[in-house]
Amino acid sequence: MTAPYPLQAFAPERSAPLILALPKGRILAECGELLERAGIRPAPDYADEASRRLRFPTDHAELDVIRVRSFDVATFVAFGAAQLGICGADVLMEFDYSEIYAPLDLGIGHCRLSVAEKKETAGSDDPNRWSQVRVATKYPNIARRYYAARGIQAEVVTLNGSMELAPSLGLARVIVDLVATGNTLKANGLVETAVIAPITSRLIVNRTALKTEPELIGAWIARFRAALGETG
Ligand code: PRP
Repeated sequence: MTAPYPLQAFAPERSAPLILALPKGRILAECGELLERAGIRPAPDYADEASRRLRFPTDHAELDVIRVRSFDVATFVAFGAAQLGICGADVLMEFDYSEIYAPLDLGIGHCRLSVAEKKETAGSDDPNRWSQVRVATKYPNIARRYYAARGIQAEVVTLNGSMELAPSLGLARVIVDLVATGNTLKANGLVETAVIAPITSRLIVNRTALKTEPELIGAWIARFRAALGETG
């Protein structure tokens, strides 16, 4: 059914800049290169992790960027506090926010979401025969879903980081965490026993913002698409 009026007619006049939420930490440099290719130049202290500023103007008066934790990028966008964001597929898998639309795989932040455990226990028994397992992770939903699909009840201990300590200290037998080079696992006596999903970063968009300002938001999506060398 076609709407009897143009939906855009009801879009409020935008006076404030759009907000693009970006994750701090490991993919900040890769994000910087992508923004450069997309012709977006944030104020220079955006790339300075020591800067206490959290919101930065860009060379586009109508676009500001904010720098937040990777999990919080999704929250800002889901609630419409930011209209656009760059966010790992791991975060999207964990929260499954219905308000987020993820139109583009940006091909940065390559890593994988994996299961790991102490090299001493890995292979000592068949995980297919487990009935329960304790898991340390910052991805409780993914971990529960992963084990539930295998008929294993996961008791999840939620941590915010440094999961790799959990097996050696008896907090949990396994961890579910991101693995990039594998150096953190190795340095902590752990081995990867299963890959849950390959991960890259996505451009994400607030669905309501896209509905109310399709041309404006669509133009920014197109700009990122062009920066990736993709068309239409
Ligand atoms: C991530 C992840 C691992 C590490 C893996 O942590 O949680 O700890 O990177 O990378 P590697 O395989 O290259 O060693 P991050 O440094 O992003 O910090 P976090 O602990 O705050 O999540």
